[in-house]
Amino acid sequence: MKPMKLAVLVSGGGTNLQAIIDAIADGTITNSEIVTVISNNPGVKALERAAKAGIPAEVLQPKSYPDRAAFNRALEERIAESGAELIVLAGCLLTIPAELIRAYPNRIVNIHPALIPSFCGKGYYGLKVHEAALKRGVKLSGATVHFVNEDLDAGPIILQKAVEVLPDDTPEILQRRIMEEAEWKLLPRAIDLIANGRVSVTDGKVRIL
Ligand code: GRF
Repeated sequence: MKPMKLAVLVSGGGTNLQAIIDAIADGTITNSEIVTVISNNPGVKALERAAKAGIPAEVLQPKSYPDRAAFNRALEERIAESGAELIVLAGCLLTIPAELIRAYPNRIVNIHPALIPSFCGKGYYGLKVHEAALKRGVKLSGATVHFVNEDLDAGPIILQKAVEVLPDDTPEILQRRIMEEAEWKLLPRAIDLIANGRVSVTDGKVRIL
């Protein structure tokens, strides 16, 4: 079976990208290869991680284009040129163009640092998610891998993993625990399932075969 080609979109630290790189190296993810990493920010650690792993990477910034439509076209072209069959949003804070979502139905996955439908949607990203969870006083939070559709954080849920919230947690401590115990496990597992044809979507619901 030819390996599934992945395009990984990043914005910052790239710890989820690193989890994917490491999982391919140790066989946790099979039948997959990262063909490109695209960052909307220059000089971020995610780009260093790609370079260290010998993965082609580039920066595509909206401000480098005359308008958003031109940026969106460039992004779509780059991804098409890479031959990517699955687009992975790994710590990606970019608004994904509707055209791209329509071109890749159930072929774009995102990792969200909460148990969707909690603490998701507009304004819930990065530390803000954990600040809201702590403010609400939840005893469990976690992470969700889902397919991306045109509604923010609302696509079919593929995998979720709960993580305990502890009394002395700060947003930073909770974020780290959720990354370590959930994000970095779920995203590689979801990619491996998809790469091996074990994920089906019917009426917006995911079944793992
Ligand atoms: C993580 O909290 C992730 O859940 C969110 O972005 C943050 C940074 O991810 N999507 P990374 O270290 O850049 O992968």
